Amino acid sequence: MKVLLGVTASIAIYKALDLTRELRKRSIEVQVLMSNSAASWISPVLFEALSDSPVYAGRDHVKEAMPHISVREKADLFVIAPASADCIARAAMGRADDIITTTLLSFSGPRWFAPSMNPFMYAHKAVQKNLQILAEYGYEILDPQNGEAVCGDLGKGKMATVEQILDKIILLQNSI
Ligand SMILES: Cc1cc2nc3c(=O)[nH]c(=O)nc-3n(C[C@H](O)[C@H](O)[C@H](O)COP(=O)(O)O)c2cc1C
Repeated sequence: MKVLLGVTASIAIYKALDLTRELRKRSIEVQVLMSNSAASWISPVLFEALSDSPVYAGRDHVKEAMPHISVREKADLFVIAPASADCIARAAMGRADDIITTTLLSFSGPRWFAPSMNPFMYAHKAVQKNLQILAEYGYEILDPQNGEAVCGDLGKGKMATVEQILDKIILLQNSI
């Protein structure tokens, strides 16, 4: 199985490292795609080491002419975890302004978003409306958890746990 893992600049970005590691431990191929902001927060080198594969992030890291086309080859799933409010908004608008949003449009397999943000951001009508649009496009939203955000605010917005995302991927793997 091959998973495309989109990583955006949300506070839960460190959990994407864990997810990459857990997938590789199960011999699942992982191709990491990072937003430009995400790649400025955590070096793609770390994801490359954990995924054992070159990372697609910004122009400097993408050596191919059409990365958004080549990357989707043989991929079974595209999961964006964590998915920032901004990435969700761009995807809802059908934008193609980075490797993640461009690949979202060019890939036709299952596409999952794991929103991760402050509870007030998550509850905002704009974010909820954008998530509804993504659901209408057939993208799956992985329900965030209730709890305490890093800033101390309480409510729903924490990314689904790595275990929950992993279990769902394994279920999909078993069904292929
Ligand atoms: C310290 C810090 C933490 C942030 N945490 C979040 C977050 O958890 N969720 C979110 O949606 N945006 C968060 N943001 C805002 C995003 O990083 C910002 O919207 C960024 O442009 C997202 O870019 P991307 O979607 O291309 O990765 C944070 C910004 C900063 C500076």
